[in-house]
Amino acid sequence: MSIIEKALGKLGDQSKEDVSTPPAQEQVVQIEPLVVKAEAQTHASSPSPSTPTTTSRAVNLDFKRLGARGFLTNGDERGKLAEEYRMIKRPLLANAFGPNPVLKGNLIMVTSSLPGEGKSFSAINLAISIAMELDRTVLLVDADVAKPSLPKYLGFQAEHGLLDVLRDDKRDLSSVIMRTNIEKLSILPAGKTYARATELLASDAMDRLIADVANRYSDRLVLFDSPPILATSEASVLASHMGQIVMVVESEKTPKSALREALSRIEGTCDVVSIVLNKSATPTAGDYYGYYGYGGYGKQAE
Ligand SMILES: Nc1ncnc2c1ncn2[C@@H]1O[C@H](COP(=O)(O)OP(=O)(O)OP(=O)(O)O)[C@@H](O)[C@H]1O
Ligand SMILES: [Mg+2]
Repeated sequence: MSIIEKALGKLGDQSKEDVSTPPAQEQVVQIEPLVVKAEAQTHASSPSPSTPTTTSRAVNLDFKRLGARGFLTNGDERGKLAEEYRMIKRPLLANAFGPNPVLKGNLIMVTSSLPGEGKSFSAINLAISIAMELDRTVLLVDADVAKPSLPKYLGFQAEHGLLDVLRDDKRDLSSVIMRTNIEKLSILPAGKTYARATELLASDAMDRLIADVANRYSDRLVLFDSPPILATSEASVLASHMGQIVMVVESEKTPKSALREALSRIEGTCDVVSIVLNKSATPTAGDYYGYYGYGGYGKQAE
């Protein structure tokens, strides 16, 4: 069975073509519902222009602000959101550092079929979750080079980043990485916008950078927040560099046809693809219910 058939099987009925039947338990591991106040949801979709920023190479994450936007924070270790991300990260970490690690398993791309399905939200929460709780360091890479969103969500500005390192072989990776006030979390910003970004991501320079990251930081998880697969060509190019891919599916919204097409575009690039089911919405008075599931397939599920 192809990875596409497996993925659609695991998703059961949670994507758009079939929303009436609840998914079978064995298809998607269902995790406690996340309740995010409607107010926080509103803030998240329209970042305020007065966003606190920093231009130095240190990012001071404002946990109060992150929490208000529905993100995981340092006081959240026992909350539902933290528990959900614990379930999502466990198999990723096992693939990266367990007794039978997958090739380049510490390089993980978070992607989805279409815009707005929650890639950046999931990548940020995963990064915070791993960096806060475990003895693992995390490098969060803003690989959505055409439309970077880490600065707006995390509240920082960065002049240089990934694209600058790729364009200038004299610029060292470590000179653009930003540390944060979570000791084990650092960020590689996207860098200056560049029209031929896809070519850069497909270049030998990118191969060298990925090899450098994977070797120099072999004890570190490197999470790439990526563009949507169907809207850009960068995501498929990036996929070929990864050891693992996390595919975010927006519950009851992502059309199965889009997911099928997205999976087919990355088939053959990376053996280990996992699914995070995001934003399953059952609104009640004033609250927004989000909800995640995790289903791993590919090498792990053989
Ligand atoms: N589980 C969730 N609960 C509440 N809000 C969420 C959830 N997931 C995503 N969001 C919100 O949905 C919006 C889109 O999320 P996000 O920016 O992460 O999507 P994306 O897939 O990265 O989009 P793009 O393709 O534009 O990069 C944001 O306002 C985000 O805060
Ligand atoms: Mg994004």
